[in-house]
Amino acid sequence: MTRVAIAGLGTVGCGLVSLLEQRGGQVARGERVEIVAVSARDKNKHRPFSTSRYEWYDDAVAMARSSSADVFVELIGGEDGIALSAARAALESDKDFVTANKALLAHNGGELARLAEQHSRSIGWEAAVGAAMPIVAAIRHSLFANRSERLIGILNGTCNYILTRIEDGESFETALAAAQAQGYAEADPHADISGLDAAHKISLLSALAFSTPLALEQVSVEGIANITLDKVRAVARNGYCIRLLAICEAVPDGLSLRVHPCLLPIGSRLANVSGVCNALIYQGDFCGQVFISGDGAGGNATASAVAGDIFSIARGRKIPLFGLPSANLSALPFCPLQDIISPWHLNFRVRDQVGIVASISAVLRDCGISLASILQDGSADGDADNVSLFLYTHRASTIAIDRALSLIDKLGILQSAAFAIRILEMNEDK
Ligand code: NAP
Ligand code: HSE
Repeated sequence: MTRVAIAGLGTVGCGLVSLLEQRGGQVARGERVEIVAVSARDKNKHRPFSTSRYEWYDDAVAMARSSSADVFVELIGGEDGIALSAARAALESDKDFVTANKALLAHNGGELARLAEQHSRSIGWEAAVGAAMPIVAAIRHSLFANRSERLIGILNGTCNYILTRIEDGESFETALAAAQAQGYAEADPHADISGLDAAHKISLLSALAFSTPLALEQVSVEGIANITLDKVRAVARNGYCIRLLAICEAVPDGLSLRVHPCLLPIGSRLANVSGVCNALIYQGDFCGQVFISGDGAGGNATASAVAGDIFSIARGRKIPLFGLPSANLSALPFCPLQDIISPWHLNFRVRDQVGIVASISAVLRDCGISLASILQDGSADGDADNVSLFLYTHRASTIAIDRALSLIDKLGILQSAAFAIRILEMNEDK
């Protein structure tokens, strides 16, 4: 029998209790998993199960140290504080540790991995990336023999939910409120919207896939705060949708780690991922492109992954946090975002006057940026004097685009701030 202590009884914790209460005694070929202790902030809060069945701890760290559990599950959240203290206490007390907390692992995964190795314990973290989507297990097991080349993921359910609700005509604010009501968003949804949550996740996946130490500080991060209904509609007219992508890829100068919104051709694999779904294209040298998708947030979806880790530990499976022992991970150089090359979409709101397009294209020419196509649209708001220019470029570096945008801004012809967004290259998303 495997005894489990659960710290945190919110969206995910309640989902896990429900799952283990229904399945704990039955699955894993006779392996029994039982909850023995629980902890949350408020003992008297109403919960959808009776906490009196389990030993209650006001202090999650005390539960990590002294409960009779074999596995300590942390579902509190936060990169430090009580979550980190409890994680350390559990491993030091020779308990296996399971968490859905990507912020905790992205900041402290190296230390916790070493601690787990010293105590011959496992850390389960499937739920921390993509919730129900089994990507950690896939990379740690089935794909592990490959040399990883590229990971392109939709790794934040809240952002994907918002972007696809905007496609249906909803405002950003309404869509965010709906994501919060469903329990998808972080306690502070800024972590979702800013891209930080996806950055936590891609930093963890890159360490696993490329056998490198964690490097959260190397992730370039841009979120979706400036993606409006107007912009989504405008790109849709030209055959694209917008998704927040988390990317880790081997490039000639090392590894590129980044999170940013991207245009995808409507109908392509990642473009078809809608709502709270997450997806990842893993590209390896022998497997080619593997596409995995599943619900990336929500109580039950996340509990499914947490429980999978618990049963895996119950069956005796022990693998280091990042696939290899910490001492065998080796650092790679990182390629700055400025040097990353891709096609771009640029949108300028300008007065409809002679010579405007010529001025903009002269700047692009001077910055070495080649245009693939250009469209003018004055229909959006019926203002005959102002028009939108939609430019699609061939491959250009971030540094060249930044320079061009700065020079175009100085021309004094823009009616509002320019909008620039990368386009995912077709061969990355066949
Ligand atoms: P949540 O609904 O806000 O629940 C947090 C829980 O932690 C609550 O039960 C709270 O107690 C408890 N807590 C807070 N401070 C505590 C303390 N000092 N000691 C003990 N317990 C404490 O959060 P959640 O959505 O379940 O998320 C939990 C973790 O899973 C986070 O790391 C999150 O990033 C991750 N995650 C969430 C999802 C998702 O879809 N929600 C998906 C994947 C991963 P009270 O109930 O008494 O207030
Ligand atoms: N807030 C996160 C998301 C939860 O929306 O993806 C899952 O990690």
